Amino acid sequence: MKFFIDTADVNEIREAKRLHFLDGVTTNPTLIAKVKKPFWDVVKSILAEVPDKPVSLEVASTDAEGMIKEGEKLAELGKNVVIKIPMTPEGLKAVSYFESKGIKTNVTLIFSPAQALLAMKVGASYISPFVGRLDDISHAGMDLIRQIKQIKDNYNFKSEIIVASVRNPVHVIESAMIGADIATIPYSVIAQLTKHPLTDIGLERFLKDWESVPEKPF
Ligand code: G3P
Repeated sequence: MKFFIDTADVNEIREAKRLHFLDGVTTNPTLIAKVKKPFWDVVKSILAEVPDKPVSLEVASTDAEGMIKEGEKLAELGKNVVIKIPMTPEGLKAVSYFESKGIKTNVTLIFSPAQALLAMKVGASYISPFVGRLDDISHAGMDLIRQIKQIKDNYNFKSEIIVASVRNPVHVIESAMIGADIATIPYSVIAQLTKHPLTDIGLERFLKDWESVPEKPF
């Protein structure tokens, strides 16, 4: 299972790299806006940090023609750039265009199995179902991942499932149990994944007991 980080903050990307957890980066307009720096500066610094792993950059147009223009500009920044496109009929046209040119796409804002099926059918390299936002409206987000995984396996679609809108470690573990290809995880959740209170208590005890060992080698 691959771990992507869901951020536009280059410091968080650096930290995730140090933990050897990083297989890719996903951004969206909200995450880019949070950094409060010019768009091209943000994007270039992300790509400088991650030159060899997929980096999803989202288009802002709503018509296929506009998405294609923006996506082509973004794709010039590097071979690892993945064009992130919203799940709309216009978006699907743009996906099919980019994939036919060998440019990878990530279809975002997927909330139903039908949307996922269409995105897989037009050949998206990645699809991003949002689990947290479904949980927020009292729909079981992870059920969507189970449904999409079954559809993908039934027809051997090549699209990789990126579990997005991840809010907690349970989302990550369930994704792994279902067999999702990727989870894109905010840095705060990556940090939580390493933690368990019994690990902290156990370590404290080991260190205390170690103090009483005679002639310690280190
Ligand atoms: O990048 C898309 C997705 O992960 C957004 O998450 O927390 O804004 O629902 P969230």
